[in-house]
Amino acid sequence: MKKLLLSFIVLMSFSLQLRADEGMWIPMLLQSNEKDMQEMGMNITVDDIYSINHSSMKDAVVLFGGGCTGEIVSDQGLLLTNHHCGFDWIQHHSTVEHDYLTDGFWAMSFEEELPCPGLTAVMLKSMEDVTERVLEGVTKETSNEERTKIVNENIKKIKEEAEANTDYQVVIKPFYHGNQYFMIYNEVFKDVRMVGTPPSNIGKFGGDTDNWVWPRHTGDFSIFRIYVSPEGKAVEYSEDNVPYKPNYHFPISLKGAEKDDFTFVFGYPARTNEYLPAVAVNQEANVIYPVSVDLRGKILNIYNKHQEKDPKVRIQYASKHAHLGNGWKKWMGVVEGINNFKGIQKKKNFDEKFTEWAYKSRQRGAYLNLISDFEKLYAEYEPYRLATTYLSETALNIEILTFAAEFNKLAKVTKETSQEEIDQMIAAAKEATKVFFKDYYQPIDEEVAVAMLSEYIANQPADFRPELLNTIVNKYNDVQAYVDELFAKTMFTSEEDVNKFLDEFKASKAKKLAKDPALMAYNDVMDFYLNNIRTKTTDLNNQISDLQRVFMRGQMEYHAERNPEKMMYPDANFTLRVTYGKIGGFSPRDAVTYKHFTTLDGIMQKENPDIYDYVVTDRLRELYENKDYGRYADKDGSMHVAFIAGNHTTGGNSGSPILNADGHLLGLNFDRTWEGTMSDLIYDPSICKNISVDIRYVLFIVDKYAGATRLVDEMTIVE
Ligand code: ARG
Ligand code: ASP
Repeated sequence: MKKLLLSFIVLMSFSLQLRADEGMWIPMLLQSNEKDMQEMGMNITVDDIYSINHSSMKDAVVLFGGGCTGEIVSDQGLLLTNHHCGFDWIQHHSTVEHDYLTDGFWAMSFEEELPCPGLTAVMLKSMEDVTERVLEGVTKETSNEERTKIVNENIKKIKEEAEANTDYQVVIKPFYHGNQYFMIYNEVFKDVRMVGTPPSNIGKFGGDTDNWVWPRHTGDFSIFRIYVSPEGKAVEYSEDNVPYKPNYHFPISLKGAEKDDFTFVFGYPARTNEYLPAVAVNQEANVIYPVSVDLRGKILNIYNKHQEKDPKVRIQYASKHAHLGNGWKKWMGVVEGINNFKGIQKKKNFDEKFTEWAYKSRQRGAYLNLISDFEKLYAEYEPYRLATTYLSETALNIEILTFAAEFNKLAKVTKETSQEEIDQMIAAAKEATKVFFKDYYQPIDEEVAVAMLSEYIANQPADFRPELLNTIVNKYNDVQAYVDELFAKTMFTSEEDVNKFLDEFKASKAKKLAKDPALMAYNDVMDFYLNNIRTKTTDLNNQISDLQRVFMRGQMEYHAERNPEKMMYPDANFTLRVTYGKIGGFSPRDAVTYKHFTTLDGIMQKENPDIYDYVVTDRLRELYENKDYGRYADKDGSMHVAFIAGNHTTGGNSGSPILNADGHLLGLNFDRTWEGTMSDLIYDPSICKNISVDIRYVLFIVDKYAGATRLVDEMTIVE
């Protein structure tokens, strides 16, 4: 089984031409790409990138904070990632007196580096193929249900055995939709401290306006450091901890890079779905995304209106806006990209070819009806997926409801609950209350509630409505009237009331809490979801995954027949991957071409003191006017800020190192171009480009702008 799989290859599912620049490769299996990479210009070997026998680049790449990538750039555990990846910690450490979001932060000594309890950096130590062991006992005759049971049991057993013999974290993950399994050993660093961040008008320059768009001028970086015990163990924060001595750290290149230069990106892509049938892609792009885009667009309009009126509200809703806006904008790009590319038709063509191929041999019986089975299942799935999308984009964006949900445990307290448990619940609820009201603006929430509940009622059939919504229709006949009453009666709009309630809480008050209209509304929606939607979607999801596993296997066989030399790459699944491609611009549409890099001149062109996203500080303007770039200037004399290349990346790759032919750091990946956001479903190398911040701009800010020269001094610089 294993050998068979390893000899498979992948191409674009609907093309027979192997395309350069495509693929998220498993570092352990990079051998099969080495020739390709070297032909494209790489000067090192894949053994330099990944080895378990000696130090290699993999020892300098971490999963940062569970959702981003970071890289080690000094022998003292100094770590670079994006500003938007460090954002929550920058916000966490900010107060009115020390507003690091606005002003930036630079630790001028080790003592000034700020602990971040809960933040982790995860480093892969090794991985091994455990497919045979995971599938032990599975035969051709095994039913899907039985298979799931066997696989889960085997995984549990293998994991327990491995854990008994190691201090490392052990994870077993399916690849190729469950056709292959890898066991991964990780070292989890738990003392990661904040070392530096530029002000938001550099780290988030262009804000949500420029997000997902090229050309870009964002200094999207922040700096952290890993600490370990004096014995070198990855332990929780302690004053006695010392900076981590890594096995490897990335040298930094100040040489810049030219068009067509080889680059590679090493990091943790989260999730892609490039092997779906046409019906699935169509549902995603033409049914689900448009709904999310429409609903979020309405919410963002409400946010914008209030944010423009009041600077306090602008700050309070900055992170919420960024969060909703990131998906909103990306999905618009995905839909447009797929339509321009005629992506659904191309997927359909492949589905047809695949089915024809299946008919040509008796061995391929399992693949004969796949496409029509998918069509049936996805048709059944659609109303439930729509309802799920409506529920999460409407009800769950009403803040008062999700806040109330934090009190569900307390509402279930009985006479039997111990005082200790109650005290813990109260402490948690108090913390949640503090966090909630810091960034809560009731007029926004009320408006969102009216708009979203109206949308749900208007667009979902009565039998897909939670009881609450039918009550609104029947009793109030007016969403506004219901929302007015909800906000008037719930205690969750007043921080004072909530805290008073918590201070006086006794088990006997649980019943009253459970009757709060916001908590009742939340629970009504959730109960409906769990009982009427989720049971169905879980079942359909399982059936679809079973089909997808077979379809994936079929696609692997199909392509292996056509290109036996090159291995195929699996969808992203939050595991360490290497992707490579060349630096270069592209043509997004007729008559338009994009250059591959931006400069500080562009920042000055965008500058506008009246638009929050485009404010430039006096300090940066001064450096610009004096052309005071030191050794960080490009050989053309300008200050390069960002660049694009053909690396196949996705969410989670943010913060990833982008490296040159020698494996030296050129920059930090942080985004993709809007025209190419469809790459999670369909990858087209002519428009799918990754955006990185130039490391010379990063160091210019650290050194020249902020004077945190001690940080540059500990890096290995290649001039
Ligand atoms: N689009 C990038 C990503 O998906 C960056 C998002 C953060 N930046 C922002 N302006 N919201 O994560
Ligand atoms: N901005 C994304 C991230 O945060 C990267 C991407 O989607 O290209 O991981």
